[in-house]
Amino acid sequence: MRAQQVRAGFVELYGTEPEGVWSAPGRVNLIGEHTDYNDGFVMPFALPHTAIAAVSRRDDGVLRLHSADIEDGVAELRLDDLVPESDRAWTAYPAGVVWALREAGHAVTGADIHVTSTVPSGAGLSSSAALEVVVALALNDLYELGLPGWQLARLCQRAENVYVGAPTGIMDQTASACCEEGHALFLDTRDLSQKQIPFDLAAEGMRLLVVDTQVKHSHSEGEYGKRRAGCERGAALLGVDALRDIPYADLDAALARLGDDEEAVRLVRHVVTEDERVEKVVALLESGETRAIGPVLVAGHASLRDDFRISCPELDLVVDTAMSAGALGSRMTGGGFGGSAIVLADVADVDTITKAVEEAFAAAGFTAPRVFEAVPSPGARRLV
Ligand code: GLA
Repeated sequence: MRAQQVRAGFVELYGTEPEGVWSAPGRVNLIGEHTDYNDGFVMPFALPHTAIAAVSRRDDGVLRLHSADIEDGVAELRLDDLVPESDRAWTAYPAGVVWALREAGHAVTGADIHVTSTVPSGAGLSSSAALEVVVALALNDLYELGLPGWQLARLCQRAENVYVGAPTGIMDQTASACCEEGHALFLDTRDLSQKQIPFDLAAEGMRLLVVDTQVKHSHSEGEYGKRRAGCERGAALLGVDALRDIPYADLDAALARLGDDEEAVRLVRHVVTEDERVEKVVALLESGETRAIGPVLVAGHASLRDDFRISCPELDLVVDTAMSAGALGSRMTGGGFGGSAIVLADVADVDTITKAVEEAFAAAGFTAPRVFEAVPSPGARRLV
């Protein structure tokens, strides 16, 4: 249905049929936060919310971009003029992907693109990765580049790091490109090895809710970069390539070596314990003990709040209220400083928990949150 609408929108704009229509999802991260740029573990799954793009090739070095969601005309760019960090609008994401493909030596000669997305932006649910990946996949197919999902994710990350200028890790793009329906993706961000872990909560009488606090995180890039730099400093102080190289069993010794460098202690402790939590969640899911992941999620939230210091009052209120109202587990998800939290709950408790969170937000004078159920959905794919 949406594919047909996007196709029709393309025809209206550009006067011809698109060569195809593609889709790429946003994600929630179950566990493994701020570990991806430390070469560690993450475990996202794809949302049913997607970016959809109708795309055709061009051979004249021109890129035309249009979004059905933004009141703006068609942006027309010349491929030879694409320069990193020159664009502050949404067009930087698709243009960045084209730039990254060409930089990597792929002969992309132009495109007409019309997109629309249901991934909420600024909600910590990877709306930008969905946009990048849908464009990368479309061009990969149309130009017959033959790149696998993990490699498209790398190119999209490069678009975001260099062209857009945001120092993010590899999780979101890999999730959008590689997730599978009914599964969470256990990803080792050092070598990008992947394992699809069955994650069918409905079959076990549970649900996973996403609570979008409506606190936009888009002005937080400075803080994200500071955490990243702090982690790199911690790794350097400990003489390792990345914090991933500190085994959990050696954590106390590592912290002792950092002495009274309080900031390094906090950041290192979060990353090393978070990697351990990912491995614990994988082990629990693989042995069928899904309910037991709840406390691990809560411990992850405490670590992000107290050690990594990237939570906010709204996110903490979701977690505290949901847990008091009978949730099995809850934590903030994504980059932090706003955005969304997840809540794991028995089906029977979902309404009570949702109501409790809504009431707590009203009582605190916060903007009403948006609550929806997240079902592990397919990764990026061609629709038409
Ligand atoms: C953002 C980044 C990811 C990752 C998360 C935190 O979503 O894009 O690379 O670092 O924050 O886990």
